[in-house]
Amino acid sequence: MTSVDQLHNFLDIATQAVLEAGAVLKTHQGKIKTIQEKGRPGDLVTEVDKKSEDALLSVLKRHLPDHAILAEESGQHKGKDSDYLWAIDPLDGTTNYAHGYPAYCVSAGLLVEGKPVLGVIYDPSLDELYRAAQGLGATCNYQPIQVSTTASLQQSLLVTGFAYDRRETSDNNYAEFCYLTHLTQGVRRGGSAALDLVSVAMGRLDGYWERGIKPWDVAAGTIIVEEAGGRISAYDGSPLDLQSGRILATNGLLHDSLSQTLSQTPPLESWAN
Ligand code: IPD
Ligand code: CA
Ligand code: CA
Repeated sequence: MTSVDQLHNFLDIATQAVLEAGAVLKTHQGKIKTIQEKGRPGDLVTEVDKKSEDALLSVLKRHLPDHAILAEESGQHKGKDSDYLWAIDPLDGTTNYAHGYPAYCVSAGLLVEGKPVLGVIYDPSLDELYRAAQGLGATCNYQPIQVSTTASLQQSLLVTGFAYDRRETSDNNYAEFCYLTHLTQGVRRGGSAALDLVSVAMGRLDGYWERGIKPWDVAAGTIIVEEAGGRISAYDGSPLDLQSGRILATNGLLHDSLSQTLSQTPPLESWAN
């Protein structure tokens, strides 16, 4: 069992880590030297992703040497205490960053026995720091935040994303994107899963879904949404499995209708013209 004092301590360490990594992103904004593809077309990595990850790792390892870490760029870092696992994304929104589009962030989430219990996200462009821990609420720049009260899909503004394997599968979220664009006030494609989640937590957006996401994309954002009063699950409403790659996050009020719509989305060719 993690005590409240421990959670506060972990929050402060993760805050220092994301702020130091965020400073790296700010320093190098617009000055990237190398952009490579990690295998799939469009799946970019820059030297800044790696520098930012080094900054995160250095703070976490210095203060919490026993904790394990799953880092997007360098993989697994073992720790003596395997109950605690940090899932970290040093630059969520690399494509945006590489193009100079100011929607990216640093994300650090703590899983205890596989479940997200604490998350810290820093958005350098808006200078917004998001923090949450189980039972302690969610904040933006240390002010409490809450999800929206939008209760119908017709009145909602949603966000989604498209995984890097989208050209290789027909299960690529295109049909769901178009169908929900039809049924709502709009569907945004933010380009940073972590920022999509905090936008739901802030009440700026009402719901988010995506397939093909990785634990480091959403570990922090899920607990921030829950602590802001929202709901997180798999597409069908069952508990989120971080390994499954499918996530549904809403203000709670829209959860069942969005879940149902995702399961009933007709193929594109049957209605769009
Ligand atoms: C990506 C972003 C994007 C999402 C992709 C992620 P990256 O992370 O979160 O919004 O649609 O699935 O992989 O590559 O920028 O860290
Ligand atoms: Ca990511
Ligand atoms: Ca990343």
